[in-house]
Amino acid sequence: MKIFLLFAFCCLVPVSSASPRRYEAIFNFGDSLSDTGNFLLSGALAYPVIGKLPYGETFFKHPTGRCSDGRLIIDFVAEAFRLPYLPPYLALSKGQTPRHGVNFAVSGATALDKEFFNEPKLRSLLWTNASLSVQIGWFKKLKSSLCTTKQDCDNYLKKSLFFVGEIGGNDYNYHAFVGENVVQLKASVPLVVEAITKAISMLIEEGAVELVVPGNLPVGCSAVCMTLFQSPNKADYDSRNGCLKAYNAFAKYHNNKLKDALQTLRLKHPHAKIIYADYYGAAMRFFHAPKTYGFTGGTLTACCGGGGPYNFNYSARCGHTGSKACGDPSTYANWDGIHLTEAAYRSIADGLINGGFLTPSL
Ligand SMILES: *[C@@H]1O[C@H](CO)[C@@H](O)[C@H](O)[C@H]1NC(C)=O
Ligand SMILES: *[C@@H]1O[C@H](CO)[C@@H](O)[C@H](O)[C@H]1NC(C)=O
Repeated sequence: MKIFLLFAFCCLVPVSSASPRRYEAIFNFGDSLSDTGNFLLSGALAYPVIGKLPYGETFFKHPTGRCSDGRLIIDFVAEAFRLPYLPPYLALSKGQTPRHGVNFAVSGATALDKEFFNEPKLRSLLWTNASLSVQIGWFKKLKSSLCTTKQDCDNYLKKSLFFVGEIGGNDYNYHAFVGENVVQLKASVPLVVEAITKAISMLIEEGAVELVVPGNLPVGCSAVCMTLFQSPNKADYDSRNGCLKAYNAFAKYHNNKLKDALQTLRLKHPHAKIIYADYYGAAMRFFHAPKTYGFTGGTLTACCGGGGPYNFNYSARCGHTGSKACGDPSTYANWDGIHLTEAAYRSIADGLINGGFLTPSL
């Protein structure tokens, strides 16, 4: 008993309790890959099922508004820096000062403002108007409650980590859903990248110094993409992972344009540390070697869905009648056809923090 107690006490003391926190706060902007509740709090009209189980069944044991079974990349990043999980901006009560950071991400959000989706077919698809610039506006509004004088703000924000993205994926998704092909999608890449770089510049003007800017995931490996764009032509699939080559090439195209733009920004703002987060590369590790990463259920088939070759059925999406979740989401990379499982997000976060998928590293 004594030995047990001693053991228990020794291990309750955090190893690095003597060292100061690396960051005071994390501020996050993005879409469903990092939304910890804003979309649900805003009503989630386009996707109410995220407000009920099986969403949230892992770890939290209840739905939180995260589009996954459990934690997201941003949750694992907060854990790694010993900060609390970021509260969603829309959950803050008046006068609350979340000194350790806030999450502004909204599921379905786009990098470009809603005016870019005015065409009726596109407009009806748009889940939210809370584009990246709207989220930055929320940050500016909140800033005065976080710090007061310019010097106070500069000191505080210098010690904060800013995550800008992943964002932009939905700008392309909406266009793809109305039937645009990969060649047509490429036309919007410069605009999307420009919206992201504008947001970064605005944050730097506000006092941000360390910024992480994630690229897009290998969308050609997602169950929704594999289902909607399945092809009878074997040559359309990558023999190394079974994914759709054209859509992964498109994700890489966006990522390369984004990396080029970040390089230009670094020259413009030499005092800032602008870090590219390679979500694509970190995720590709498990698409190439699923079993090595524990994904014995597979990486291309969704854990939760209503049938079909990749368990994605638009009329029986995860959470709707006719769908069901797999027994053990930790053995699947894909959660609901569109989003990844906690296990997959954990693996990507580990790739960022320990695996060399941040350039430059933190
Ligand atoms: C977006 O804004 C328009 C008004 O500009 C509004 O009619 C629409 O309902 C909003 N959409 C969402 C999803 O909030
Ligand atoms: C998709 O879901 C609908 C509605 O539940 C069902 O009728 C249909 O059989 C499903 N399709 C497949 C391929 O499982």
